[in-house]
Amino acid sequence: MGMKSEILRQKFINYFENRSHAYIGSYPLVPQDDPSVLFTTAGMHPLVPYLMGEKHPLGKRLVDVQKCLRTGDIDEVGDIQHLTFLEMLGYWSLGDYFKKESIRYTFGFYTEILSFSKDDIFVTVFAGDEDAPADEESYNTWKNEIGIPEERIYKYDKKENWWGPVSDTGPCGPCTEMFIDTGIEACGPACGPACNCDKFVEIGNNVFMEYFKNKNGQFEKLEQKNVDVGLGFERLVMFSEGCNTVFETDLFAGIMNKIITLAKKEDVKSCRIIADHIRAATFALAEEVEPTNIDRGYVVRRLIRRAVRYGKQIGIEGAFTFKVAKEVVEKMGSIYPELRENEQFIYSELKKEEEKFEKTLEKGMKEFLNINDAEISGKVAFNLFQTYGFPLEMTEELASEKGLKVDRSGFEEEFKKHQDLSRKGAELKFKGGLGDESDMAVKYHTATHLLHEALRKVLGNHVYQRGSNITAERLRFDFAHPDKMTEEELKKVEDIVNEQINLGLLVFEAITTVEEAKGDGAIGLFEAKYGEKVKVYSIGGPLDSEDAFSKEICGGPHIKNTSELGVFRIKKEESSSSGIRRIKAVLETK
Ligand code: SER
Repeated sequence: MGMKSEILRQKFINYFENRSHAYIGSYPLVPQDDPSVLFTTAGMHPLVPYLMGEKHPLGKRLVDVQKCLRTGDIDEVGDIQHLTFLEMLGYWSLGDYFKKESIRYTFGFYTEILSFSKDDIFVTVFAGDEDAPADEESYNTWKNEIGIPEERIYKYDKKENWWGPVSDTGPCGPCTEMFIDTGIEACGPACGPACNCDKFVEIGNNVFMEYFKNKNGQFEKLEQKNVDVGLGFERLVMFSEGCNTVFETDLFAGIMNKIITLAKKEDVKSCRIIADHIRAATFALAEEVEPTNIDRGYVVRRLIRRAVRYGKQIGIEGAFTFKVAKEVVEKMGSIYPELRENEQFIYSELKKEEEKFEKTLEKGMKEFLNINDAEISGKVAFNLFQTYGFPLEMTEELASEKGLKVDRSGFEEEFKKHQDLSRKGAELKFKGGLGDESDMAVKYHTATHLLHEALRKVLGNHVYQRGSNITAERLRFDFAHPDKMTEEELKKVEDIVNEQINLGLLVFEAITTVEEAKGDGAIGLFEAKYGEKVKVYSIGGPLDSEDAFSKEICGGPHIKNTSELGVFRIKKEESSSSGIRRIKAVLETK
């Protein structure tokens, strides 16, 4: 038995701390200031401003373990390696070292700490295209310095060896990926690290973020050359513990055992799907993302319902997902305290969602029994999926019991249409934001600080930020306050913000300790995240001066002078939830 997951997590952090990287805790799964994505899918999301050149309070070298949720591979879950929720071991160079050093570090961690053999490692590098040249430096480092033989170094195009941007625009670059051959037979002569069969398992990705994809789709060189490395934690644990699948590791042992005990039929794939989906849903629920029909909530709903469906397939009766979630909390609660803090909410939401699904299942079955075509059309199958949550496999099974066929390709066509539509919707909805660093989003970020302080001046110091969502078109700010604001109060707040804009105040930034920042009167929500050192933005004077209008702990970025903001207008004030008010505001040109 190799290294337990708890030890491996810590050894990773130590390895990079010993090499002058500062540890930053995991950011939430729900992005805080970046509406361009639904969930954090990689450790680099929250670091976008720093990849673009913003100074990080902890320096140029960072290390973390980040919670990630991605549904891109949801159909692959059930094999030996794919997951929707995963922990990503990440480390960064923000304009410090580059390709050679980072390849040395990753390889050093694999061989010195995890005792992986060089002979088992395969690598891939970027082959080059019209946007960027071939990555010769990585190729040569792997071959000549590390000593990976040519036949284990593959060159691929952008599809395999380029990472980012996360949304339409943003930092990105070529990457070199590392794989381990599981020894499973190749699926064909073309089988290689990029293949989706289980022969090769990706164990890491070193991204060299030196480009920015702009709105016109061009790749501009960034001023700062960064390294963004992500290593899939569960897969490293799998190899380190000598397991054949991620589901056999100590991370999943309790969860899988629970499901196997509940199941009446043996079907390992279904058990793995349930384990993955409920683990992911548990983490999302821990951040209070409730199952709904849209956006984030829909992702959670889909995960839970898919798990319930597979539960039925293996004969599990009655509500069971909360029992699986208990195992997740048991295993991960000490590392992610939000799981324990929201334990009861997680279980009750899971129970509620299972009940709701039971009801739509019944209705869906009624509709299904009315079908008399020789063949169930793609549209009908899609409707069963869309309205009642029937996965295609379920419709197919039920259909075959009735001697009917299902038009699978028709279903897939409908599904694709729907996906394209919702993706377009999401793109529109989440356009802008700090994810793409648009100028307007940065302005709204500064306006949010002014608004925060103005609210405290008008309503009192009990006001503090409970949420912020910025797009290129508006800001949305949630704050603690018990009553609806009066017209007069709103007017006062608006006037105060506009006054600060008209004064043309300079925006200062300082890096200091949480204690000093607080001592100087800074407010801030996310102070615990950074441990010791934090960045503070003060508007209208340096942090230690009496003149500053606002002092707030914040990662940035911000504009340089408030005169850039235009005219601030509050469009709406409403309740967000109990004790929390919400303001929507815009910036207009003068
Ligand atoms: N951003 C890259 C990834 O997610 C490396 O961290 O794979």
